[in-house]
Amino acid sequence: MSVESAKIGVIDSGVGGMTVVAALARLLPSAEVIYFGDSANVPYGNRAEAEIIDLTCAMLDFMREKGVALVGIACNTISTLIDKLQPKYEFPLISIIEPAANYVAASTMRHVGLLATEFTVRTGHYQKLIRARNDSITVHAVGSKHLAALMEAERYDEAAVDAEISSLLAALSRDYPVKDIILGCTHYPIAIDVFRKWAPDVHFIDPAALQAKAILEKLESRGFALGRGAVVGGGSLSVYTSGGTATFERLLGVLKIALPCTIRAAGK
Ligand code: DGL
Repeated sequence: MSVESAKIGVIDSGVGGMTVVAALARLLPSAEVIYFGDSANVPYGNRAEAEIIDLTCAMLDFMREKGVALVGIACNTISTLIDKLQPKYEFPLISIIEPAANYVAASTMRHVGLLATEFTVRTGHYQKLIRARNDSITVHAVGSKHLAALMEAERYDEAAVDAEISSLLAALSRDYPVKDIILGCTHYPIAIDVFRKWAPDVHFIDPAALQAKAILEKLESRGFALGRGAVVGGGSLSVYTSGGTATFERLLGVLKIALPCTIRAAGK
């Protein structure tokens, strides 16, 4: 397999998947990542399934043209639909939910919280995957209509983010006093400091690092000897977005992404 075909595609409804890129870059600084964030159409979590599929196929068609080896579906909302998307593409699609479900199922947790978009919560996808692996775990889920859009905004509204996170955590603890909470939307870990401020004793699970590991394992299973020092690319990040570039630029610093990066506004 040629070195060029080791390009890693990452897609998200917007900027949230940059949390996955940050985790990938930490694990494999030589990674060559192509990212598409559909910021013109975010939030996906308030849309209907058919719309999400159409918008996602446009991003995956773009990735096919770029010749990626696989695509990490960083967006949890899109990952709930992976079984409908995978048959349309010849390259592997890696879910962000599955590695998180594996992690939770293998733990000693008996109750776990889930904060995600309303769409993700409504599908029950996390609950199904976790309980299929370990049926002694109860998932307590609360959906947010607003948090992804707040994280996406070019002018970061600190007070609104603070209020939304505190009300989500309060709603979750009214249901059950969970000690472990999955941040089941890629946009949420960007505000991890705010989550920790309101719930300092809670263990927040960020699926990004788990998905990054799953992406690299899939590349290895396809013949790339990543663990043995082989270089799959020079280490680069090409970001394409259907929306504005300002939030992406800000997040490179917030998430400490050190890969040499270009950010382009692009139609799909
Ligand atoms: N980042 C997406 C996710 O992980 C959600 C944001 C949106 O609603 O588009 O679910």
